[in-house]
Amino acid sequence: MCGIVGCILNDKKAAPVLLECVKRLEYRGYDSVGIATPYNEIELKKDKGKIDDVDQKLNLGDIPGNMGIAHVRWATHGIPTRENSHPHNDCKNRISVVHNGIIENYKELKDELIREGHLFKSETDTEVIPHLIERYMDEGHDLEESVRKATNDLQGSFALAVFSLDEPGKIIGILKDSPLIAGKNESEYFLASDVPAILKQTNNIIYLKDGEMVILDEKEGVVVKDVEGNVVEKEVHIIDWTPEMAEKGGYDHFMLKEIHEQPKAVRDTLMGAEEIKKVVKEIKSIKRICFVACGTSYHASLIGKYLFESLMDIPIDVVLASEFEYSANTLNQETLVILITQSGETADTLKSLRIANKKSKTLAIVNVLGSRATREADHVIYTHAGPEIGVAATKTYVSQLACIYLLAIYMSKKEELLERLNQIPEEMEKILKKEDQIISIAHKYKDVQDFFFIGRGFSYPTAMEGALKLKEITYIHAEGYAAGELKHGPLALIDDEVPVVAVVPPGKSHDKTLSNVEEVRARGAHVIGVGSKKDDVLRSETVDLIGLDDEIDEMFSAIPYIVPLQLLSYHISVAKGIDPDKPKNLAKCVTVE
Ligand code: G6P
Repeated sequence: MCGIVGCILNDKKAAPVLLECVKRLEYRGYDSVGIATPYNEIELKKDKGKIDDVDQKLNLGDIPGNMGIAHVRWATHGIPTRENSHPHNDCKNRISVVHNGIIENYKELKDELIREGHLFKSETDTEVIPHLIERYMDEGHDLEESVRKATNDLQGSFALAVFSLDEPGKIIGILKDSPLIAGKNESEYFLASDVPAILKQTNNIIYLKDGEMVILDEKEGVVVKDVEGNVVEKEVHIIDWTPEMAEKGGYDHFMLKEIHEQPKAVRDTLMGAEEIKKVVKEIKSIKRICFVACGTSYHASLIGKYLFESLMDIPIDVVLASEFEYSANTLNQETLVILITQSGETADTLKSLRIANKKSKTLAIVNVLGSRATREADHVIYTHAGPEIGVAATKTYVSQLACIYLLAIYMSKKEELLERLNQIPEEMEKILKKEDQIISIAHKYKDVQDFFFIGRGFSYPTAMEGALKLKEITYIHAEGYAAGELKHGPLALIDDEVPVVAVVPPGKSHDKTLSNVEEVRARGAHVIGVGSKKDDVLRSETVDLIGLDDEIDEMFSAIPYIVPLQLLSYHISVAKGIDPDKPKNLAKCVTVE
């Protein structure tokens, strides 16, 4: 995680622009922030804390110079302190570096550099990098060669931006297993961890591959070189996301805006049906599907299992990406591995993709254009959710589900279900109108310590996703459980202090889930029911019912039913005074294993 930016501007001050860009990367980490520019010496401002707080204290935009680098940190090595904040400099303060990733062999390198006389100021893995570059520059190599040599010494993952006072007018970026893109206008040059970071400055984007080096040069513009140092001609992609798509648009938080954008996100994704039909034609002769994903995308995969197995006679596995390498032995060319990842950059998912590529066919379902997963998978389907900034995934989740539904419908040749699928955005719009009722429920339950979310069949992953949202942004302990499994353990925890959210759409599992609701009520639990307005059990006095339309049957409930659960978590988070866009310890895109 962590976010990095670098820029060379024509005749403007770089620091305010770097600050603006790095704010758009804050979803990647907010343990600390820093900016460095080369001026007479290296001008550096950095500290621990969220960007706005550090900015208030240090006035980060007030640094001279028309070029520089910046960083937001998600701590891996070393607790958040000023010393551990990036940028990091070499001994002589002539080289400055920002880094995203993890250097696995930093201890050996650090010991070696200390023996050579280098002085370290932080506990980070990153700090070895400016010292390595210093070592090679001291040996007489230029900056480009020194960066290349230094990165050859590194094991692990990195995206770097580096400048040196000894080679003015130049910023060098290089990457391995961490994302980095470049962008340019006529006379302004950028590099960043992702596209939205620099979208306000430019929509001309260059995607970079592992091992490539990008050189932003005041005189020569943006030059990309391969591992051997040869110049490579790169395509410049014109991105059609607007900067406004990555702004709050009048909502208090990105998460709330993104929850409200969900009907549109699903509609836009459903419009990509032709793209999906094309992929389905290409992936014939599949006898097994294996979904691989993390976090919320994992829950979308679980819905995929219930859906495919309802529509097709084909075995479906779902594996957490961090576990995939321990269970991938039975893959073959008749297996389709579907990797679901909104960012397309999650390290565990990418590692799984590389394993799967060797043995089977792979399909990535991704939201971020040009991300690594889209470049490495055999087939790609894009969700059309637009940029998602809130750390907790919402609109990308429902868009992933929309893709999965289309894929399952086309693969099973059950196109008659499309009409039903197309009604979902409207149903979501109706649910969003229940926000006031959900706010009062949120206020009633905001101080409890533990929650259970229960459901059966399609509603089991919905319960898991509801519990994950609550954990992520309210810090309340929550468990998503198969309703029928409660009696095998967790029922012992249920009493009047542990509310139970029951996901009960009409359908096959309905009556049995209602029996489980009765079981928890009999043990004193308060129930928040999400289900049909007409259910007598859910309309009883001890149940807070979020009543949804009867027409939303179980098979199509996964998309609309998650909406009230997202709103519940969001409003509990706000009621507790937490910033739901930036939950502690979490990052939107996890680029470490
Ligand atoms: C992080 C995010 C989650 C996300 C997960 C997987 O943990 O905080 O919101 O679901 O990564 O991300 P991906 O980009 O692979 O879908």
